[in-house]
Amino acid sequence: MQLTATFNRLALGSVIMLASLGTAQAQEDDVKIGFIVKKPEQSWFINEQEAATELGEEMGFDVVRLGGEDGQEVLSAIDNLNSQGADGFVICPPDVRLGSAIMNRAEEYGMKVITVDDQFVTSSGEPMEGVPHLGMSGTKIGQQVGDAIAEEMEARGWDPEEVGALRITNEELPTAVERTDGATESLLASGFPEDNIFDAPQKSTDTSGAFSAASPVFSKQDDFEHWVIYALNEESVLGGVRASEQYGLDAEDVIGVGINGSGAAFAEFSRDNPTGFHGTVAVSSTMHGRQTAEDLYRWITEDKEPQANTETSGTLMTRDNWEEVREELGL
Ligand code: GLA
Repeated sequence: MQLTATFNRLALGSVIMLASLGTAQAQEDDVKIGFIVKKPEQSWFINEQEAATELGEEMGFDVVRLGGEDGQEVLSAIDNLNSQGADGFVICPPDVRLGSAIMNRAEEYGMKVITVDDQFVTSSGEPMEGVPHLGMSGTKIGQQVGDAIAEEMEARGWDPEEVGALRITNEELPTAVERTDGATESLLASGFPEDNIFDAPQKSTDTSGAFSAASPVFSKQDDFEHWVIYALNEESVLGGVRASEQYGLDAEDVIGVGINGSGAAFAEFSRDNPTGFHGTVAVSSTMHGRQTAEDLYRWITEDKEPQANTETSGTLMTRDNWEEVREELGL
């Protein structure tokens, strides 16, 4: 009797000890990070946030997914994260010039910050130092777009003099400028006439922003038989392609090549009839989401500061190979 009681007391004691140890452990491990994106409805960003969440589940930390479509929304997202006890966040900002406002708020709360896709700039327009960044290698990926367009023009036997180029631009965003400049460079190198390139400045980096920018270009330039279309991402190229359809151009007279390789492109490639959307340079949004989340987690838990700048590369995806490339990039 006596013995059993003693044993029970001991057993109970160790259960309590274990339980309290468990709580202490849980508190230490209870890391929460935010993942804020400028366009939460775009499939690139949906995938990026989902990939970060999955990595968090694997490694044992929480990811709070938030949208920040303008400065106000981003600042309230940061307040919200602070009230939830988050230790930092990964962000693709809606405007890269918001960098110092965002960093001030984060520093007030002692949060660590990593940018993904779009890098903060200083008031003089230079990339902001001291905030680790992971993004596409814009120039190289842009060049791949230009090469893909030039090759397809050749395959279709087009005379470059009869081709107009719709360049959908976003001058405020350095990665966008790098991408469209890279594409222009390769196109010119292939012998494309510079005078046949027309700019369509977009207000927002999405399909509707590109559609409104593209439409007037087609109506003003009606002397070209064929058109090529490029932009910072595939959503924007799709806006250009939709505008070309509305203008009455046939799919075989249009070559649009985008960047991203996300749901928007998969939907286009899955249509029964090909459209003017020829291809896209796919980059792994899965890798962008996982890598930045992991970097931030290690920074928080191991005090290991991430690499200052990580550049990612891309693979051309067309109707012919999109399923393979999708698989390869884990999309
Ligand atoms: C920018 C674009 C997105 C996507 C990312 C990838 O943020 O707006 O569509 O291309 O870059 O880095």
